[in-house]
Amino acid sequence: MAPFVRVENLTKIYGRTNEAFAGIKEVSFEVNEGEFLGVIGRSGCGKTTLLRCIAGFESPDGGKILLDGKSVSRPGPDRFMISQGLDQLFPWLSLKGNIVFAMKTVNKRVAIKELQRKAEYYLELVGLSEWGDYYPYQLSGGMKQRAFLARALSVNPRVLLLDEPFGSLDALGRKAMQDLLLQLWGKTGTTIILVTHDIDECIRLSDRILVFTKGTLRHTLLNPLTRPREYDDLAYREFYRKLSRILERDKIMNLTWADAVLR
Ligand SMILES: Nc1ncnc2c1ncn2[C@@H]1O[C@H](COP(=O)(O)OP(=O)(O)O)[C@@H](O)[C@H]1O
Ligand SMILES: [Mg+2]
Repeated sequence: MAPFVRVENLTKIYGRTNEAFAGIKEVSFEVNEGEFLGVIGRSGCGKTTLLRCIAGFESPDGGKILLDGKSVSRPGPDRFMISQGLDQLFPWLSLKGNIVFAMKTVNKRVAIKELQRKAEYYLELVGLSEWGDYYPYQLSGGMKQRAFLARALSVNPRVLLLDEPFGSLDALGRKAMQDLLLQLWGKTGTTIILVTHDIDECIRLSDRILVFTKGTLRHTLLNPLTRPREYDDLAYREFYRKLSRILERDKIMNLTWADAVLR
């Protein structure tokens, strides 16, 4: 399979703090079409920066990003990012109205009735068909997360960029959303890049895992587990230990940005 997303020597430097630079440095990897890629690393290692560059919100200081062979540098409906804690719905529109609104921006010639029918379809996909006429302030946090997913999928992006999307949910809500995301991925075949600092989430969802440390891509691991992946399986525990050892080792090495640059 030809690589669908290609990140080449990507560098984004925000500036210099007292002891280090901040951003990401010379990161290269590829993602296949339909793949579920996980990106894991400690807080501050550059995960959000990476997604923001792919989304086109940041202009790189070096390197480039290709989507299906074409260089991307601006936001577009072919890439949809869900950012933890930052996403909002219009409070004066119903849930269905919010989704119709999003679709309208990319399907300018489609009749409103057709968009409404599609919005209902996407609400049903995320289990919110009963809630289409409700307003965002009438929904729980978990329901809003579902609505964000419905809205994202409704514009039919080629790549879904998820930045710790379930971080605000409790453990049960989080697992339910992970299961839903897997189901949606199975149905739509959308390429997904999921950023998380949660080892379990990363293992349960991803086909392949990139480990970031201080702005650099340190390791790439293939997930050896078949789905469904259960916490108490022996192979699951083994892979969990392997990944957590890698994250722990990178912490102990206490790589500075300068080390990464000189590496
Ligand atoms: N807009 C910005 N201006 C300056 N520094 C930033 C900005 N955004 C992120 N950073 C810094 O870049 C590094 C990587 O941040 P980020 O990509 O948000 O990491 P993560 O998502 O892995 O927690 C951090 O040191 C952070 O403080
Ligand atoms: Mg982040």
